[in-house]
Amino acid sequence: MPEISCEWGTTTEIIAQYCKEVIGTDISPECIQRARERHPNLHFEVLDGFDVRSALELGKQFTKIYIDISGLSGYRSLLDVISLLIMYATVLRPEVIIIKSGALKHFISKCIAWRKEKA
Ligand SMILES: C[S@@+](CC[C@H](N)C(=O)[O-])C[C@H]1O[C@@H](n2cnc3c(N)ncnc32)[C@H](O)[C@@H]1O
Repeated sequence: MPEISCEWGTTTEIIAQYCKEVIGTDISPECIQRARERHPNLHFEVLDGFDVRSALELGKQFTKIYIDISGLSGYRSLLDVISLLIMYATVLRPEVIIIKSGALKHFISKCIAWRKEKA
């Protein structure tokens, strides 16, 4: 399982207790260096979360993906969130994607599923 945007690896360490294999990734080399220092037993890589092709090149069959990229909570970021979800779903084809996004949470809270009336 990759954590997209792990910062210093705090959540990566928690995920590692429940997953067979986890890779913490972040766009910031400084964050990854600190994560490696704090959690020398875990695997971390520098990765731009929007570069799904590079995520693919990590060479793993990911069944679960956790995304926590900063900046995905503003209302205007909703399209970024949706495009990220679609990219990861179509390229890596995981069983599940968990994404931390205030924009998506707000949007979904305003949605009502349409159902055809029974005759
Ligand atoms: C809220 S922090 C992540 C916290 C971490 N998931 C945790 O639970 O401790 C957001 C992180 O997103 C990273 N980030 C921002 N833009 C990114 C991008 N395009 N790709 C990957 N990481 C990015 C930042 O470097 C920052 O470390």
